[in-house]
Amino acid sequence: MSEERSKRSSRVPGFYTQGREQRFRALGAEGIHFTKEEKLALDEGGLTLKRAENMIENVLGLYSLPFGVALNFRIDHEDLFIPLVVEEPSIVAACSNIAKLSRAGDGFITSSEASVMKGQIQILFNDAFGLNTFKQAFENAKPSLLESANRLCPGLVSRGGGVLALRFRTLPPNARSKYHQGWSSPDTIMGVVELHVDCIDAMGANIINSVCEGMRFELQQRFNIQTHIAILSNLADLRCAEARVEIPLHALAGKESKDSTPDESQRYVEGLQQGHRIVSAYEMALRDPYRACTHNKGIMNGIDGVAVATGNDWRSIEAAAHAYAALSGQYTTLSRFRVSRDEQNLECELRMPMAVGTVGGSILVHEGVRAARALLGARAEKAGELARVMVAVGLAQNIGALHALAGEGIQRGHMSLHIRQVLLEIGAASHEISTLKEQLIATGELNRQAARAALKALRNKDCKEPKDKLVMSKLKREG
Ligand code: MEV
Repeated sequence: MSEERSKRSSRVPGFYTQGREQRFRALGAEGIHFTKEEKLALDEGGLTLKRAENMIENVLGLYSLPFGVALNFRIDHEDLFIPLVVEEPSIVAACSNIAKLSRAGDGFITSSEASVMKGQIQILFNDAFGLNTFKQAFENAKPSLLESANRLCPGLVSRGGGVLALRFRTLPPNARSKYHQGWSSPDTIMGVVELHVDCIDAMGANIINSVCEGMRFELQQRFNIQTHIAILSNLADLRCAEARVEIPLHALAGKESKDSTPDESQRYVEGLQQGHRIVSAYEMALRDPYRACTHNKGIMNGIDGVAVATGNDWRSIEAAAHAYAALSGQYTTLSRFRVSRDEQNLECELRMPMAVGTVGGSILVHEGVRAARALLGARAEKAGELARVMVAVGLAQNIGALHALAGEGIQRGHMSLHIRQVLLEIGAASHEISTLKEQLIATGELNRQAARAALKALRNKDCKEPKDKLVMSKLKREG
């Protein structure tokens, strides 16, 4: 860890209230410097029309999202600023808040597995005899098939990765899904050859798809079988990352009042109760797929934000997360929570697939991605490192949601941030927003109707005041 990085603090009090230039200066003071191009890219959404036209088909224009930074994160004893590209208010604030609470302990501790992904080649058999003959021949031919597969990805092999193993599985018909009855062909005999590929720092889709397509023809010719589709599996269950954090229970107690002296034992009891309420919310997600889906969505609120900022394929991460959550046969929560035995901490853990890349794809095409990488520094250079940061952010986001749900609910915090968007939508000017926001929060009426009424009242007052002033000065002049 460089000297500058090890001394860096991601705690920047007042960052929220600062202007954009001040924020850049505050980051600079912590050793995070953006190049002119990166800053310009952030002004303009990170992508030029010309580049966009080379990325996808039928381009009509660009579509921007806010690029925010989450503070307070300490991950594996290193302070980090987290780039988040997301449209939903409260995500940046919620995970920064939990990251702050985690600093009373060791912060987030993470790990990640090697970047091994699975590629699949579908095989169809005419009968059970064909299946059994193939199984035997495949086992015998594995060493030479492995060599062929690695010959299809020499670049990856030269970087220390490549195809590590080949497996065959038969795929029994899915008798459980009623929806597919009458559509599926349960009598078809089907199997899959799986390739386990270490993609090092790439997400791996391109390379795995190329290897699978090459191997598909080799299998067909060597074994005289009918092969069909050949593609990577997004269910990256060999490429999981984990994060754990202990939040001191006293930190979960409500905010201290300014007027009263803090009563430590009272705070501890409140924190312990809150800890148990969070664990109970986790238990609901464990038991009920309807709750687990929303619980996991909270995790993805953080993960997707970093995935988009760093130019990663967030759809693939989403697909993997939800398939992994259902691997036991019942869709359930990806994270787990308990109160520690000594009743001092809330123990929180998250384990999930994290197939992210730091090279290849469109990662360096987008200038905004370069700005995100400037924030993350060395953590954005290795896929395993980035994966570790992302699970930590997902876990922070998840804890933030449960903390709010188990406390006053999410609507108050959510709506007080959301109200800014509502005010913009109804045409409030930027100089009117903070007055109106304060006013609406004070009345607790955080809805569009109240916002309209408040805006009208403010504008009437503003119109009246200068008029009153005019009348007064006229009267004064007239003696
Ligand atoms: C909203 O974007 C996410 C939450 O619904 C997550 C959860 O319920 O745990 C608040």
